[in-house]
Amino acid sequence: MKISRLIEQSKVGEKAQKDQFAIDVLTGLCATPKNLAAKYFYDDIGSEIFRNITQHKDYYPTRTEYEILDMVKQELPKIIDEETIDIIELGAGDGHKSQLIIDGFLNANRRVNFYPIDISEKAMLMLRDNIKTHDNLNIHGVVAEYFEGLRYVKERSNNKQLVLFLGSNIGNFDRVQNQGFLRKLWMSLSTSDHVMLGFDLKKDVSVLTAAYNDSSGHTKAFNLNLLTRINRELGGDFDTEKFQHFGVYSPTLGAMESYVLATEEQDVYISALERSFHFDAYEPIHLEYSFKFLKSDIDFLSQKTGFEVVAHFSDPKDYFADSLWKVVKGSDC
Ligand SMILES: C[S@@+](CC[C@H](N)C(=O)[O-])C[C@H]1O[C@@H](n2cnc3c(N)ncnc32)[C@H](O)[C@@H]1O
Repeated sequence: MKISRLIEQSKVGEKAQKDQFAIDVLTGLCATPKNLAAKYFYDDIGSEIFRNITQHKDYYPTRTEYEILDMVKQELPKIIDEETIDIIELGAGDGHKSQLIIDGFLNANRRVNFYPIDISEKAMLMLRDNIKTHDNLNIHGVVAEYFEGLRYVKERSNNKQLVLFLGSNIGNFDRVQNQGFLRKLWMSLSTSDHVMLGFDLKKDVSVLTAAYNDSSGHTKAFNLNLLTRINRELGGDFDTEKFQHFGVYSPTLGAMESYVLATEEQDVYISALERSFHFDAYEPIHLEYSFKFLKSDIDFLSQKTGFEVVAHFSDPKDYFADSLWKVVKGSDC
């Protein structure tokens, strides 16, 4: 498997990346309420902890989406009837879901070029260990931000493309950002290309809150790891014992929200920023949204952003939906 690294390619690139992390932390901790960008969860340790979360009994999304993809994998090559297909996966993670989609096309005797794109080098290395080699499969991993990676792949191929954005990553954007993201995706693709998006559906709140507060504390560790990352990479002195994880469903937003709360009044110094940040007792840092959807929301979103729904695939409990969309160009908004 070939891996291209569009980030961290040089000392200069590494420095620019660290500077951006510092600027984002500064901006987030100066905001009211304080926040930190979720993309920084995925350092090497964060990617490992995320894998533990996905394997936990309380965390239904991964298990459920896996079951759905296993059911639909033979359907996709019938719908996307191409001899050679590029499967491009945004935020591919460890690749265990990708394998199912790839197998569906290989079993139908198609040639597959698989381009996983992920910001995390660690995730890419886990994926490399997980994806099985095959004569009809060519794999080219790209360590990059979503659209930087997509642009890189588009410059190298003219095949029909199926873009995967699984795991309800789309749910991390709010309802304005997700339309912006999907329009940008639409702009990057050609008529009759397909995308398949994972959407976590609205459901009983007790199921949601259990998933985002797993009983083994993996989600807690995942969130607190972001503070540890700031300590390590930016010279912070967060005491993670003085912060608690809090995952809660907001019915007005229709989203799970993740916070860490300062359990007592304190000041945290970050040497790369040459300043300290004051926390009142129980002051939150907002870390992540995970928006939940109705199928009608998914239809609305596709129609607003230039796609046509081909099919919604979901599990018997309707916990999760993988929705296959086709790119439509030339029609009205
Ligand atoms: C929630 S995990 C999902 C992994 C996999 N798609 C799944 O469904 O199990 C999100 C993945 O997206 C990657 N990621 C997050 N933000 C990203 C960004 N801006 N650009 C590229 N990858 C990103 C993370 O490193 C992580 O591997």
